[in-house]
This record gives sequence, structure tokens and C-alpha cells, in this order.
Amino acid sequence: MRSRLFKAQVPSLQVSNDDLAKIVDTTDEWISVRTGIRNRRVLTGQLSSECFPELSISLTVMFTPRWFLPRWVGSLGKESLTALAVEASKKALQMAEVDPDDIDLVLMCTSTPEDLFGGAPRIQKALGCKRNPLAFDITAACSGFLLGLVSAACYIRGGGFNNVLVIGADALSRNVDWSDRGTCILFGDAAGAVVVQVTDLVLFSRTCGAYNACDSEEDGLFGFDLHSDGDGQRHLNAAITENEADSALGSNGSVLGFPPRRASYSCIQMNGKEVFRFAVRCVPQSIESALKNAGLTGSSIDWLLLHQANQRILDAVATRLEVPPERVISNLANYGNTSAASIPLALDESVRGGKVQSGHTIAVAGFGAGLTWGSAILRWG
Ligand code: ACO
Repeated sequence: MRSRLFKAQVPSLQVSNDDLAKIVDTTDEWISVRTGIRNRRVLTGQLSSECFPELSISLTVMFTPRWFLPRWVGSLGKESLTALAVEASKKALQMAEVDPDDIDLVLMCTSTPEDLFGGAPRIQKALGCKRNPLAFDITAACSGFLLGLVSAACYIRGGGFNNVLVIGADALSRNVDWSDRGTCILFGDAAGAVVVQVTDLVLFSRTCGAYNACDSEEDGLFGFDLHSDGDGQRHLNAAITENEADSALGSNGSVLGFPPRRASYSCIQMNGKEVFRFAVRCVPQSIESALKNAGLTGSSIDWLLLHQANQRILDAVATRLEVPPERVISNLANYGNTSAASIPLALDESVRGGKVQSGHTIAVAGFGAGLTWGSAILRWG
């Protein structure tokens, strides 16, 4: 199995720490010292990336009444998470020289789908996959993309799947309370995609019926380690709530509690200190287990690629694993925590910037709501 063709997309609207300081009681210094984050991209649903490539737009524009804006702003297309995911996927397929008809499986890793029933089939349709390959969502917050990668490998190793498209995409900005300075400073929106492909050796081993060839050097996934703990859900969640204002239902003599009120998700609730402690404790343990499963040691890691939540978490995990800072991939200063998109976004930049090269060994770890966490040791290219 190999996974070497990434592409990521971000919304056009850039929101800086100074922009946030205009709407909540915070400062650029507080945010950057505690988190390492300086900017994030946010889906506006209003301004299209074609019209505003790489443009930073002040928050005052966002909060300006529509009628007050120049007429051309109102005529712009809408941004959507699905569109970002489709764009990232198209580019990943082009780079991989894989025809959409050759995709066997689409895994959309997201906790913020634009349809309650999931977004993957819509992406499959938008990509023009005429053979109707299986497409479904994986909901595991900031661990989603890592679980997608491992799932893709398991489908390929199980047989019958040659090209799996794994997408990590989230728009947590839609579930953030923008008046809560404890959470709104952290998150941004993005999408990234990778084509995971069967290798010749795995194909060969399958015809010989010897699957353990997947443990060999030729399989790009050397080892992994996955966990979840529902007890920690109380520290990080966006739970369902009944709409109290929906009083029309249940008021006309119906049995109490039926018909049910319409429900929606609450904004993200987080105990930052507990989440921080969880990440710093569990992520190094998980990477050590994945290394052990791979038969490798920390000294074989070329790059440490963690979910981009907080620079202090990245630093603490790297120190614990004795990985020097220059081998830690970090781009959260520009994008914040983009949940399931953060790993493909950071990897895409590192590959394009020439840091990560073919043959390098990467320790990848995801962690977040659920709680869920896990890691994988991959060979790039
Ligand atoms: N600006 C200024 N002051 C602030 C801000 C802010 N944005 N936010 C909180 N404060 C204040 C608090 O009110 C508090 O003030 P007080 O001492 O007067 O009561 C003080 O700063 C300290 O607040 P803490 O919450 O204790 O700050 P902490 O050092 O823990 O940093 C942070 C908060 C950055 C959120 C940190 O806990 C963290 O990064 N935790 C991990 C969070 C995380 O990674 N979550 C995502 C997980 S991934 C997923 O699945 C979604």
C-alpha cells in the first residue's frame, strides 16, 4: 500500500488573532503564546475562493450588512465544505493520474457533514465516479483522517480495493460559539485528500495467498495503534439539544414527548486543560505502541506529524519522544486546528515545500473528541 498523492484546499477568508480581538476579549499575544496560532481560514458561505485567491478580508466585512456591501460581493458564489473536499479530491486524483472511474472506495472523514446522512456519496457523484463505488463518512473528529488512512489500508489488504480516496474535511467554525474566547480562537476550516493505492507487491502477494507480505518493507503502513474512551466525552463535545423554541410540536393534545421536538447540535464545549492533559499523556504512548508494532524505534522517525491542535501539545509530545524540533511538522500558525483536515493539510505543505521526501518514515497521530486517538507509522511515496 502506498499513500503519496495529497492535495489540500482552504477557504479564502483569513481571520487573524487581531480580527478575533475585535469580537472577544483576547489578544494576539495570549493566543499565539498559549497555542501558536496566528491565523485561521473560515468558510463564509458567501465569498468564493476563485474571486478572492489568497486574500485576507477583515472581519468587519463579514459583519457588515449585505445591503451596505458593494453589489459585486452579493453576486459571488457560495463556499461549502463539500466544494473544498471535491476540489482537493480532483487535484489528488490528477496528481495520482487515477481516473475517477478507477476509484473503488471514497472515505469522507468529517464531523461536520453538510448532510445529516453524510457527504461521501455526494463527493463520489461530483467527481464523476460512474461505477458507483462505495462511499461513506467516518466521524471521529480530529482523529478522523488517521482512522480513514488505516481503514483504507485494511480495505486494500483485505482484497478487492485498489484505489481508495481518503478525504479529511471539517468546518468546525460552524459549531463554534464565536462569543466564547476559550474555544473560538482555536479552530479553522479546510479539506485535504489522498489517494491510497495498492502496490505491486501487495497484488503479487495476494495472488500467492500470502498476505503477510504486507508486513514487509514494501507496504507503506508499517504499524498502527488506535483507541477511544467515551468517558472523556464530557471534556470535549457538541452534543444534541432539543429546540426549546419549537413549541408548535407537542402542544396540540399529543402524548407528552411525542412528536419529538426538532433537535440541533450545541456549540463545541471543551475543558481545555483536560484535553491538553489527555493529548500529552496518550499520544506519545500511542506512537510508541505503533513503533513497536512496526518493529521500529523512535530514531527511525524522519518526521513527526501530529494533529495540529496546539503548538504546546506538539512540543510536549516531541520532547517525550525525543524527536528534535526540526523534525516536527507544524503549520497551525496559519490555519489553527482544522480537525480531520489538519494532517493532510500539513503533509501537503511539507511535501510541496520539499521537506517530506519519498522513502521518509513519518509517525502520524490524531487525537480529539470522542475521545479518540491513534497513530500510524508510514513510509512516504
Ligand atoms: N484570551 C485571553 N484570555 C483567555 C482566553 C483568550 N482567548 N481564553 C481563556 N482565557 C483566560 C481564562 O478565562 C483564564 O482566566 P482566569 O485565570 O482569569 O480564569 C485564563 O485565560 C486561563 O485559562 P485556561 O483555560 O486555564 O488556559 P489554558 O492555559 O488551559 O489554555 C487552551 C487554554 C489554549 C484552550 C488550552 O487549554 C488548550 O490548548 N487545550 C487543548 C485544546 C485542544 O487542543 N482542543 C482541540 C482538541 S481536537 C478536537 O477533537 C476538536
